[in-house]
Amino acid sequence: MSAAGSLQGRVLIVAGSDSGGGAGIQADIKTVTALGAYAMTAITALTAQDTNGVAGVVGVDPAFIAQQMRMVLDDIGADALKTGMLHNAAVIETVAAVAREKAQGIPLVVDPVMYAKGGHPLLEAAAITALKARLLPIAAVVTPNIPEAEAIAGMTIRTVADMRAAARAIVGFGPQAVLLKGGHMEDRDVTDILVHGETVEEMTHPRIETRHTHGTGCTLASALAAGLAQGLALRAAVIRARAYVLEAIRTAPGFGHGHGPLNHAHTVAPFEG
Ligand SMILES: Nc1ncnc2c1ncn2[C@@H]1O[C@H](COP(=O)(O)OP(=O)(O)OP(=O)(O)O)[C@@H](O)[C@H]1O
Ligand SMILES: [Mg+2]
Repeated sequence: MSAAGSLQGRVLIVAGSDSGGGAGIQADIKTVTALGAYAMTAITALTAQDTNGVAGVVGVDPAFIAQQMRMVLDDIGADALKTGMLHNAAVIETVAAVAREKAQGIPLVVDPVMYAKGGHPLLEAAAITALKARLLPIAAVVTPNIPEAEAIAGMTIRTVADMRAAARAIVGFGPQAVLLKGGHMEDRDVTDILVHGETVEEMTHPRIETRHTHGTGCTLASALAAGLAQGLALRAAVIRARAYVLEAIRTAPGFGHGHGPLNHAHTVAPFEG
């Protein structure tokens, strides 16, 4: 890949801010940077949040979200887009419209964020219809966790076989691929399911016993977007993204009293001057 110090791949992140720095825009920028790509942002909402939970949310006007996207797409351009917290149906409609207008042919990673790690809802219930109708059809890959996959597919997931069935059902809404994340299951290993065209693949690694998993989903989706922006094929981008997240969990700094953040900087050597 690129020589040390040079950036390769431009990623536009459309997501919400996490004041705690562990998830959302902050996790996305750190991840994209740590993988050697260039991060740009269109901020959809501000959250007042720490490792214990979300205390407040202020949404950004959809027209202003669109303006952020258009400005950077027209000037800098992007090699991949990633969406995270989109708040409500109006935001989803707007983001999908700008992506169609300005980012055709650029791979779009949709992380269909519905709840924060502590359970706080981050997407209005009525917006799931808009997500299915507007965003999933234009996604290169969608990355639901278990509760999100249950809501999109309209089924309960208890086993890995259920995960496979739900992932196939979600492909039916039009994305080119689905990566269904198994972090919320309770098995000894963590299994993610990748459905790409006719291929269904289980990707498994040992579960790390830890409470420091704040932002794992945002981090995975951004790592995936960075890989696609750098020209990796989908499967290779997923493999690198999972490995990056696993190491970030393993080396988590242990900050905060709740679900603590990951170590996004495990690829980064401090600059000695
Ligand atoms: N305890 C763990 N040990 C190892 N890998 C994990 C663990 N928890 C999550 N992962 C991995 O992290 C990635 C994200 O999965 P997860 O299901 O946690 O997403 P999420 O629920 O969207 O996260 P978030 O709550 O941050 O939105 C997956 O690749 C999953 O395999
Ligand atoms: Mg998530």
